[in-house]
Amino acid sequence: MAAGRRKIAVIGAGNVGATCAFVLAQKKLGDIVLLDIYEGFAKGKALDMSQNANVLNYDGSITGTSSYEDIAGADVVVVTSGFPRQPGMTREDLIGKNAEIVTQVGEGIKAHAPDSVVIVVTNPLDLMTYHMQKVTGFPAERVIGQAGVLDSARMAHFIALELGCAEEDVSPMVLGGHGDTMVPLPRYTTVGGIPITQLLSDEQIEAISARTAGGGGEIVKLLERGSAFYAPGSAAAIMAESVLNDRKRLIPASCLLTGQYGLDDVYIGVPCIIGSSGVERLFELELTDGELGSLQESGEFYKTQLTDLLGY
Ligand code: APR
Repeated sequence: MAAGRRKIAVIGAGNVGATCAFVLAQKKLGDIVLLDIYEGFAKGKALDMSQNANVLNYDGSITGTSSYEDIAGADVVVVTSGFPRQPGMTREDLIGKNAEIVTQVGEGIKAHAPDSVVIVVTNPLDLMTYHMQKVTGFPAERVIGQAGVLDSARMAHFIALELGCAEEDVSPMVLGGHGDTMVPLPRYTTVGGIPITQLLSDEQIEAISARTAGGGGEIVKLLERGSAFYAPGSAAAIMAESVLNDRKRLIPASCLLTGQYGLDDVYIGVPCIIGSSGVERLFELELTDGELGSLQESGEFYKTQLTDLLGY
């Protein structure tokens, strides 16, 4: 990564993209370019956020555009462009429309930010991340999907509520796809180093796991128009921070598997270390037959969707 101020492109200036840009700015991570097909929308949000710089003490510039030339030299590109869910929809219902958008965006990134690390947020997440990697042709370690940070954060929140403890002390682990097949792992989830299996009953843990898996849907239902964006946008910013500052956070993220967990040629959420070059290491946890079965089911579900719906 070149010395000096870093450059971050956020594609899609909607709810998730704008939230992500706002968190990146507050964290003073670099110059931010917001790109949207609606130029005025991107410019307006960028100007609004820029006017907040004095109040919240941001460093760096925030600009809006609809031109890919303006993302040239970006170190990280966060992709949030695409349709969100409406009540009654699964994330997979978005596949056709969002795949077209990802194709267009991927071509722009390939042409103008060929050395960037790409963080995909567009749903259905694991499928869109796979598609993005194919469109850009970037090495798989430079195309990562944001799901695990968000799903883990949701699980952490429900645990903190149940235990009446600080959110910060909860260290959760959620694997698998970002959808109904996600795999919360209570055995690998701790609070202050103590496994939650020692702090909560089986019934409590089961209820928390179920609420985590349906966490996005619960919000879609409440909002009635659109889907969650504060936590998803912030989660993407946390991943971008790990790349930009080479933090080497060990977090779950959607990565291309090449035989790990008995799965090949599919993106799915697994624990990994994220640094300046993207995914630097991927971990294969010891799982029970039940846990591994759930993860493989999740992977197989997406493999079928990749073939049937995207023609891979
Ligand atoms: N290029 C650039 N921007 C695009 C394109 C495109 N081809 N197509 C759509 N957009 C922009 C829209 O103009 C809109 O501003 O993407 C933005 C999406 O914003 P919202 O509709 O507010 O959706 P949001 O809630 O941000 O969700 C975006 O993230 O979490 C996922 O499921 C969610 O797929 C959805 C994505």
